[in-house]
Amino acid sequence: MEAMKLIAGNWKMNGLKAGAAELEALLAAEVPAGVELLLCPPATLVAAFAGLAEGSKLGIGAQDCHWEVSGAHTGDISAEMLADAGARDIIVGHSERRADHGETDAIVRRKAEAAHRAGCTPIVCVGETLAERDSGETLAVIARQLEGSVPEGIAGLVVAYEPVWAIGTGRTPTTEQVRQVHAAIAARMPAGTRILYGGSVKPANAAELLSVPHVHGALVGGASLKAADFLAIAAGAAT
Ligand code: PGA
Repeated sequence: MEAMKLIAGNWKMNGLKAGAAELEALLAAEVPAGVELLLCPPATLVAAFAGLAEGSKLGIGAQDCHWEVSGAHTGDISAEMLADAGARDIIVGHSERRADHGETDAIVRRKAEAAHRAGCTPIVCVGETLAERDSGETLAVIARQLEGSVPEGIAGLVVAYEPVWAIGTGRTPTTEQVRQVHAAIAARMPAGTRILYGGSVKPANAAELLSVPHVHGALVGGASLKAADFLAIAAGAAT
């Protein structure tokens, strides 16, 4: 049987307590067969959302973690704390964190290991910039990022391919470009590793992107903020 498609929402730095209305709408909806839904709100909402989603089919995750269990790291949050708050999965190495916080592959790797140590599924993000794509380096960049930031031996680890130039821009790669990168990632990862596509996924393009070989789900930013759009994307995964 085909593995379930994972449709993960990344709210980024969006969402106040009032955002629970969108969560309620997600919880009230029927999750299409063959689809697993995950929502990663900001850390401030993880505990509340995990409480509301308990017993439902919706998983709650986090967007980042520190690699240490605890200690003198003002403002940081450990994977253990997020797991304690109810996070099931933790995104690590998102390109916005790599760019805004100077996260290297080595740091991302430690974060992925921390997520696993805490009992969460790491979702490790990789992706090339536009300059790297234009200079024909895409596959080399992806290979280097996988090599540096994906720890070995973590069963169930998820990889998200997110071309930096497609994030929040409304631009998406062609299905052939997606196919090529996902096939390259699949060839480097243990069999059964789920590989998500992310970058301007919306209801109108979800079904097409999700039908590409080795695309096992989507990591959705902007379109995950509205339950109706997020659910329409999930419906696209089911077709
Ligand atoms: P986007 O973001 O869907 O808003 O392009 C995707 C992401 O950054 O995960």
